[in-house]
Amino acid sequence: MSSKLIRNIGQLITNSERDLGIINDAALVIEEHKVVWVGANSAAPDADESIDALGGTVTPGFVDSHTHAVFAGDRSKDYVARMTGSKYATGGIKTTVAATRSASEAELIKNTQSVLRKCQSQGTTTVEIKSGYGLNVESEVKILKVAQEFTDETTYLGAHVIPIEFESNRNGYVKLVKGEMLQAALPYCKWIDVFCDTGAFTVDQSRRILNAGRAAGMMPRIHANQLTRTSAVELAIEVDAASADHLSASNDADIEALASSSTVATLLPGAEFSTGHQGKLGRRLLDAHAQVAIATDCNPGSSFTTSMPFCIAAAVSLLGFTVDEALYAATAGGAAALRNSDIGNLAIGSRADIAILKSPSYVHLAYRPGVQLVEKTLKAGREVNTWQK
Ligand code: NIG
Ligand code: FE
Repeated sequence: MSSKLIRNIGQLITNSERDLGIINDAALVIEEHKVVWVGANSAAPDADESIDALGGTVTPGFVDSHTHAVFAGDRSKDYVARMTGSKYATGGIKTTVAATRSASEAELIKNTQSVLRKCQSQGTTTVEIKSGYGLNVESEVKILKVAQEFTDETTYLGAHVIPIEFESNRNGYVKLVKGEMLQAALPYCKWIDVFCDTGAFTVDQSRRILNAGRAAGMMPRIHANQLTRTSAVELAIEVDAASADHLSASNDADIEALASSSTVATLLPGAEFSTGHQGKLGRRLLDAHAQVAIATDCNPGSSFTTSMPFCIAAAVSLLGFTVDEALYAATAGGAAALRNSDIGNLAIGSRADIAILKSPSYVHLAYRPGVQLVEKTLKAGREVNTWQK
């Protein structure tokens, strides 16, 4: 069995406790895709191969638990309009739906590989991908098939918005989403999500769709309170959603409810950054002891970023996280949002998904925003350059 040693680690982040579990001047050994030893660099055992971390920081690979990474087209004009005063709303999604419907599976594979390669170069090792830019049976299946080429964490989001052809028959679309479309999506996905918000789906429609997904064996997650506050958080808890995401318009009762539930609160700092929203939402959730994750929300409308380090920096400056809390939320938090404790930490026995940084401290992830600090990304112990599932 071949072994690999990462030596000369200035700061090793293990996340083995409820905090970062930092070991200074450390080393780590990998065997069979897993972490088998962590400790002082001076006590490191021999191994078949070794990587010199050159005094840099080693963290668990980032777990990006919320993306819409399979799409075609460009919405940079929407961004420019927003930055000069127009408000983010659900209408722009339809532009991406038109472009994605016309794209072939091969084009979508190419686009997605390019997006995920960028995620990976920024230290991401696990990515969740939602559908939701197809909104008819054929295109939703096409997107999920593409997503499944890249990750096991695939999510059916037929309930993203109501497509143009169903605008005067909204209940007809809900029926399709929870019926024929859901059955067609089933072989390609693990999770089901609904955009429960103004201009998208009501709480009652969302409940019916999520329950149909659960009955078919999909596990729920939800876009909640991004644009307006509804009782979406209550619904998330009622259906035991793994995660309630966005939460920007949440009130104190929502925060308390999340804190006493097993639903992870997933915040999307890139979306807050690109839609001009601010408020110490992270601080409020963390002070209430909610379980919190950070993800990119990578999509062409509200958050076209592939960088988890950028999201960590934005979480600190916009949402009230400390750097420690933001790094934990981007690793162990994301893992909790995907209900997978095998990733997001570097405890003995965990998957060797690792980012090696060329900085002496993890603090640099926020302190040097926009700077490429990730030197190497390892997935299941192997150094990777293109995205592999
Ligand atoms: O998570 N909120 C809904 N969906 C995406 C945005 C999609 C888009 O604008 O294309 C989000 O922000
Ligand atoms: Fe989203």
